Amino acid sequence: MGLQRKDLLSLEELSAEEILLILDTALSFKEVVQRPIKKVPALRGKTVVNLFFENSTRTRTSFELAAKRLSADVVNFTASASSLAKGETLLDTVRNIEAMNVHTIIMRHSCSGSVRLVAESIKASVVNAGDGTHEHPTQGLLDMFTIRECKGSLAGLTVTLVGDITHSRVARSNIHGLVKLGAKVRIVGPATLVPRSFTRLGVEVHTNLEEAIQDADVINILRIQLERQDGKYFPSSREYANLYGVNARRLKLAKPDVLIMHPGPMNRGIEISPRVADGPHSVILNQVTNGVAVRMALLYLLSGGGNGDENIN
Ligand code: CP
Repeated sequence: MGLQRKDLLSLEELSAEEILLILDTALSFKEVVQRPIKKVPALRGKTVVNLFFENSTRTRTSFELAAKRLSADVVNFTASASSLAKGETLLDTVRNIEAMNVHTIIMRHSCSGSVRLVAESIKASVVNAGDGTHEHPTQGLLDMFTIRECKGSLAGLTVTLVGDITHSRVARSNIHGLVKLGAKVRIVGPATLVPRSFTRLGVEVHTNLEEAIQDADVINILRIQLERQDGKYFPSSREYANLYGVNARRLKLAKPDVLIMHPGPMNRGIEISPRVADGPHSVILNQVTNGVAVRMALLYLLSGGGNGDENIN
């Protein structure tokens, strides 16, 4: 059975079975991207548009590579060079792009909910590549894929998310996905950046880093989202690093085989020490590698793949 959806907007709305289908399909595509010729014809004749209204290194490149490795045509839209600068609305912009017969729009925008608004206004598939502080579902999927690859399963693992939870769309997607797949999730950071109300999502809320990483299987360290903060949430970067920076000394509190993750971009020396970022526990670059296979799986499934009569080869 394939993924019976037009869009991927959040992990909150996916079932555990749908998440597992994407992760299992990504395993097949990981094998494809390790071949000398990393290309299959699954999306031949289809067009994918990268519509990014915010900066990106990993997500945009990885969606472009994923679509090209599936043999789709790919168009990269640059908001600053578009007619948005002349006052065209977001919906008029996407309707005009859709009128050129595109099949899938990958969209990132600073407003939470903007990707859903677009998805509900057009017939093409829409994938959320990060909307404001809401969700970044493909980051959540690639994080889960990486943990599963290293640990075998997510059920029963303790995963600690460290940092600016309030403004993090990565945190929200990870929480929804990890809780559905049976992991125990802890969130930790300054009280100003870790909402107590998140307990209703099934997570433990902490403000003490040492307590929160005690015996953790995975520590996923989040960037301080200065561009989304509308005030001062902690006195200084130095103070933040002293209280919440993950360093080699603190790492000893976690399980001996703990995984260190970060969605990027990293603020080295603030939320993570260079020794931890580049050390033997780090799977940060594995996350980036896995992002391509996970996004291939998603594009393939959203285009009707996995329904039984096609072969990814
Ligand atoms: N993880 C992530 O979304 O990185 P980019 O902002 O570089 O895409």
